[in-house]
Amino acid sequence: MTEVISAVWQRLAELPQATLADLFGRNPDRFEAMSQRIEFDVPGHGTNGMLLDWSKTHLDDEVLDAFEKLADAAQFDAAREALFSGGIVNPTEGRAATHGAMRGSGTDADVEEGEALLARMGMLVEAIHQGALGEVKHLIHIGIGGSALGPDLAVDALTRDLKLVDVHVVSNIDGLALEQAFEACDPATTLIAVASKTFTTIETMTNAASALKWLKDNDVDDPSGRVVALTANPEGAVEWGVDETRILPFPESVGGRYSLWSSIGFPVALAVGMDDFSAMLAGAKAIDDHFRTAEGRVNGPLLAAFADQYYTRLRGCQTRAVFAYDERLALLPDYLQQLEMESNGKSVTASGEPVSGSTAPITWGGVGTDAQHAVFQLLHQGTHLVPVDFIASIAPGDELDPSHHRQLLMNCFAQGAALMAGKASDDPARAYAGDRPSAMILVDDLDAAMLGALIAFHEHRTFANAVLMGINPFDQFGVELGKSIAKQIDSGDGQFDSSTSALMALAGLT
Ligand code: F6P
Repeated sequence: MTEVISAVWQRLAELPQATLADLFGRNPDRFEAMSQRIEFDVPGHGTNGMLLDWSKTHLDDEVLDAFEKLADAAQFDAAREALFSGGIVNPTEGRAATHGAMRGSGTDADVEEGEALLARMGMLVEAIHQGALGEVKHLIHIGIGGSALGPDLAVDALTRDLKLVDVHVVSNIDGLALEQAFEACDPATTLIAVASKTFTTIETMTNAASALKWLKDNDVDDPSGRVVALTANPEGAVEWGVDETRILPFPESVGGRYSLWSSIGFPVALAVGMDDFSAMLAGAKAIDDHFRTAEGRVNGPLLAAFADQYYTRLRGCQTRAVFAYDERLALLPDYLQQLEMESNGKSVTASGEPVSGSTAPITWGGVGTDAQHAVFQLLHQGTHLVPVDFIASIAPGDELDPSHHRQLLMNCFAQGAALMAGKASDDPARAYAGDRPSAMILVDDLDAAMLGALIAFHEHRTFANAVLMGINPFDQFGVELGKSIAKQIDSGDGQFDSSTSALMALAGLT
């Protein structure tokens, strides 16, 4: 199999590289050929659609034929089936990855378990909305990494018009982060959610203890009764002092950065209500259905992974950029950074062999049009080739004069066109090389269901990339070493290099 994979890469490397102008010149219907619409219907939320346009990338039929062969050689179909059928897709930890089951995609047993856990969460959310825990105006959600980034993105994206509860997501151990949340909240009407899969993460447990102390210091009645735990370690939460009735568990096989769909999504449900939370899951499920059944290049997330592999491995791109032309997706690049870089930033294959090429590119990005006035200079005229994804919604998120949204979309489309076309000039400083790739994700309307769909699209794109590279996207041992050295610094029990020792002494840590 390895020989077949090497042969496909060899073939890919030898294929002539047409320019984007050539590709469009050769095929006037390139937009139709290289774009697709994924449409889905969520009861009560109507029909919504996502247009995926990969025509402004360098993928052509020959490249796609080769990538489809690569997917076959990498046993993509089997890996995908293993993902949805509870197979061990995380071999280094001997685990399945059952986040899909939380939204209805998985084995019957996993889906049933997911439904039961979310029904329990729904009851608590409902009870809180009805005043069972007294007046609740604010929620301080404490978690880090996957226990914070998804909730932060979803709350920010979905509460622009209406929020039932004011949510503050606090992740950093830097006390300033928590102090800021304290300042914005009234302790008498604040709930604390402690979100940690392991319930051992030092940042989260330190912040949780300080938040509980803040409730006590402010004479809140029954401070422990104001704490909810979201975790795969319910015993740990009980030990920490949370009553079982306020512990919302989720399965161990749901990974941290894939956990938005589980009880980690509690702040989202509390802020927008269970109906919108369920719509978010339904949108994700629609993408699961597409990803599970569509073959080869008509599989949207797989096609996106082909483009990712093409640029990273064949064109040497070290980064990929994502620009959402939508304020509601301001936190999407942060979310994608963890999803893609923690999943696929690896140097060995799932079986422990060194990888044969670059793995995850560095994901970065921002919001348009702001980014145009900050970083786009480099995209247009810099020396790095950066594949760009643009994301935008046809329906506006604002209610101001339509000229705002019109300008937003016009700018978005203009950037993709400019990157591709470039512009010749006698003055080198004013010349644009062009032939710079971009992809477009244009959604009908960015509602809760579409947000779920967008996130699930990127989860599957990440998985597909991992399969093509033969790596395990579900472990993250790379984050452990720094954590253990921090513990040694704390205990003073370790040998440190002279630089680290000097810094510790300067900061009074010894
Ligand atoms: O440090 C990495 C990590 O394990 C992430 O994968 C995870 O999302 C985050 O820490 C938080 O972990 P936990 O939810 O267990 O507190």
